[in-house]
Formats: sequence, C-alpha cells, structure tokens
Amino acid sequence: MFVAAWIARQQIIATTPWSDAELALLRSLALDALPPPPPSPGNAVADDARAVEFGRRLFFDPRLSANGQISCSTCHQPVKNFTDGLKKARALGVSQRNTRSIAAAAYSPWQYADGRRDSLWSQALAPLEDPAEHGGTRMQYARFIATEPVYRKIYEGIFGDLSDFSDRSRFPDMAAPSPDPAAHKAWAGMSAEDRRTVNRVFSNLGKALAAFERTQLPGASPFDYYVASLSKLGNNEQKDQDIFGAREIAGLRLFIGKAQCIDCHNGPLFTNNEFHNTGALPYPGDLPDRGRAQGLREARTDEFNCLGEYSDDSKNGCPELRFARDDATIIGAMRTPSLRNIADTAPYMHKGQIKSLFEVIDHYRRAEPAIIGHNEAKPLALSRRERNQLFAFMKTLSGPLPGQAPQNSSGKP
Ligand code: HEC
Ligand code: HEC
Repeated sequence: MFVAAWIARQQIIATTPWSDAELALLRSLALDALPPPPPSPGNAVADDARAVEFGRRLFFDPRLSANGQISCSTCHQPVKNFTDGLKKARALGVSQRNTRSIAAAAYSPWQYADGRRDSLWSQALAPLEDPAEHGGTRMQYARFIATEPVYRKIYEGIFGDLSDFSDRSRFPDMAAPSPDPAAHKAWAGMSAEDRRTVNRVFSNLGKALAAFERTQLPGASPFDYYVASLSKLGNNEQKDQDIFGAREIAGLRLFIGKAQCIDCHNGPLFTNNEFHNTGALPYPGDLPDRGRAQGLREARTDEFNCLGEYSDDSKNGCPELRFARDDATIIGAMRTPSLRNIADTAPYMHKGQIKSLFEVIDHYRRAEPAIIGHNEAKPLALSRRERNQLFAFMKTLSGPLPGQAPQNSSGKP
C-alpha cells in the first residue's frame, strides 16, 4: 500500500507540468542560454587564436616553476574538471584554499573565492610567484620566454619584439616583489624602466593563459537535455527517464523552490558571481576566513588590476573595481561557485571543508550561525528524501569536461 502510494506520488511529481514562469526559469539555467564569454577589454589578445594556443602550452608547462615540476595543471587537472581532489591545493607548499575550476572562469568579473583579482589575466600571474604554488619569479619567467626559441618566436608573433635580458647586472637571475628577501632585494635594485619591461612580459604571459582559459567551457549535461526535451516533446514528456526521472525532477523543484538554492546559484553556470556568506566552518587550525572583506582590499592594491598600467583598458574608469560593494555583508563572504560538473569536484567549499555533495546539502539544511560575519542562508526543512532528491538533481549537472590533455604529456612545445 505504502509503496503504491509512493510510486503514485513520484508519478505526480514527474508529470505535473511546469508553469510558464517555471519553464522560463528552467530555460535560463540551460547551457543554451550561455552567451560567449564577456569581452575582456584589459586583455587585447583575449580572443586571439595564437594567444589561445600559446596559453594552452604555458598552462601545461612545468618549466614555469621554481623546480621545473609544477604547472597550472598540477592543481587544475582536466580529468577532475580542472580541480585536484584535495581539501587545500598542494604544490611546492600548501595553498590557502581549495582549488576552484578554471572552466567558465572567464564569465566572472572577479577571480578566486574572495575575488582578490579583477581579471582572468591578472589572476594567472599570482600562482606563478606564490611560494606554495609555482614559486618562481617574473624575472625568471621573462628570461625563460626570451631564451626558449620556440616560445620566443610565438611570443614575438603575438606581442612584438622581446627585450634582451642577457645583461645580468641589469636583469638578475631571480627578481620579483615577492616574499623571498633575496628576490625582493634584486627586484628593488633594478631600474624602474627595466622592472616595467619585465612586468610587461610577465603580464603578457597572463594574457595568453587567460585567452586559453576563456576557451574552456562546460559541456551539455542531462539537465540541459531535459530542458531541451521540454520544448521539443511538450511539457514533461521526456524520453530518457533514467537520467532525468521523478527523483531528479523533484530535486529540481526543490532547487528552484523550497530550498532556495536558485537565489545564488542561477543562470546557465548556476552562479550569480556575487559574494555571499554561507557560514562554512573554518578549516581546522585556521583563523576564520575573512573572504571578500580581505579579497577586495587585495584587488584594489594589485599592480596588475584594471586601473594599472599593464591593463590594455585602464582608461575606461574600471567601475567594477571602483564601485565594488564594500560593507559588513562582505565579511566572510565567498564568490558563489558554478555548480556545473559539481559531482566531479569534491571536496567542497573554500577550504574543502565538506567531503561530499550530500553533506553540502545538509550544511544548508542546518544553516548554523557563521563564525565570522552573518550566514545569509536560512535553515531548511528538508526531509532525508528531499535531500536525496536535491542530490540526484545536482548530479545531472555533469556533462563532458572541457579540458583536453596537452598534445604530448611533457607539455613541451
Ligand atoms: C598549487 C596549486 C595551484 C596551481 C599550481 C595553480 N592554481 Fe589556480 N587555483 C588554485 C587554488 C587553491 C585556487 C582557489 C584559491 C582561492 O579561491 O583563494 C585557484 C584558483 C584559480 C582560478 C580562479 C577560479 C575562480 O573561479 O575563482 C583560476 C582562473 C586559476 N586558479 C588559474 C590558474 C592558472 C592559470 C595557473 C597557472 C599559472 C594556476 N591556476 C596554478 C590552485 C592552484
Ligand atoms: C546565499 C547564497 C547561496 C545560497 C542560497 C546557496 N548557495 Fe551554495 N554556495 C554559495 C556560496 C557563496 C558558496 C561558496 C561557499 C564557500 O566556499 O565557503 C556555495 C557553495 C556551494 C557548493 C560547493 C561548491 C564548491 O565548488 O565547493 C554547493 C554544492 C552548493 N553551494 C550547493 C547549494 C545548494 C544545493 C543550495 C540550496 C540548498 C545552495 N547551494 C544555496 C552561495 C549560496
């Protein structure tokens, strides 16, 4: 009896037609609704095919590191939707946070969980000099490009003549305004003009990397096929009940309704790209993360930001940076992540504090007070079955992963 009633109820959930307003909302979430990445006026080569190819090589090349073993793909692994499966990323040391995917990162005006960089190209420069990540210096990278014959040629084809860095009295081996005292001293000893020359080459590497990243987009998932079937076959008469059946439909109803996930995870990438405090617990042993409150300060002082001289569009006034929201709500706030391919990127949250998707849903159900700032999410009355439905729905957001392996496994040109 009970089973029969349950099946009947599932049938109702699966066959209740969506209202016109709901249908419009579902279409706004489908990948079909995703426009091309927004223009990146600060990066003149953002859509240059030669820069895309150059960026792809750089992304997979471990020679861009202090020890010759770390590339962007050490942490942004194509097979894991450009993440690494770790709580906090690890290379030369341990990073501060959980690795976020580069897929569709081009759609966000801010990079990182705390938005401490205001463009994809300026973001790409940070890991190259982070002592826990690639650990090198901009001087080293500029010289590498100038002395690697294939790269030199590609670089000059895109950006024009490359300087000669062979005079060690002007261009020391290691130099950067980095935490390393020796590199810092060497950098301070260079002339302002030489520093500018090196910064120019360094920022161009970021621009090529960003051009490549702009091409890495998620593929269509069972959810997208479901939405397409609603238009083609008529409301709720889809064919493939196995990949998008009653449970998934019920989960989708919760996602856009009672569970309020849609408030922040909306649009075809399932993110509003805004900063919100969702009360994720601090990582054991770490101070509570100030999130956007810290990130905005860093974005404003970054020499490679929108207002800086290395931006190709610093004259536009940079309203996004100058008028960014700066009030109490940004304390402990993180940028809403995309939920595309979310089942492929455990663990979750800014420090990988939460092991599984099911536990993330439980975190939202409890919505405990935040340790720092104010948790915007409200507790939810979700039964275990409803949580399972939400979970089933989120798994339907996985489609083909964007990344491709480099042409040869060493990544060398
Ligand atoms: C040691 C591992 C590691 C390496 C190496 C690394 N990253 Fe990351 N990356 C991370 C982590 C961790 C984050 C998230 C940090 C945060 O949110 O504060 C991140 C974030 C990003 C983001 C922002 C995504 C978003 O949605 O906010 C982009 C883009 C990115 N990395 C590109 C690169 C590029 C390009 C390289 C190579 C030049 C690179 N990364 C090298 C670990 C790494
Ligand atoms: C108030 C805005 C908001 C609401 C409502 C919200 N989220 Fe989130 N979501 C975020 C933010 C911000 C993060 C990143 C938090 C962090 O890293 O600490 C996040 C993280 C996540 C993650 C982990 C992503 C990752 O890559 O680590 C998942 C999964 C998720 N949310 C699912 C949901 C579901 C399911 C709901 C509804 C029950 C929901 N969210 C409601 C803003 C929101």
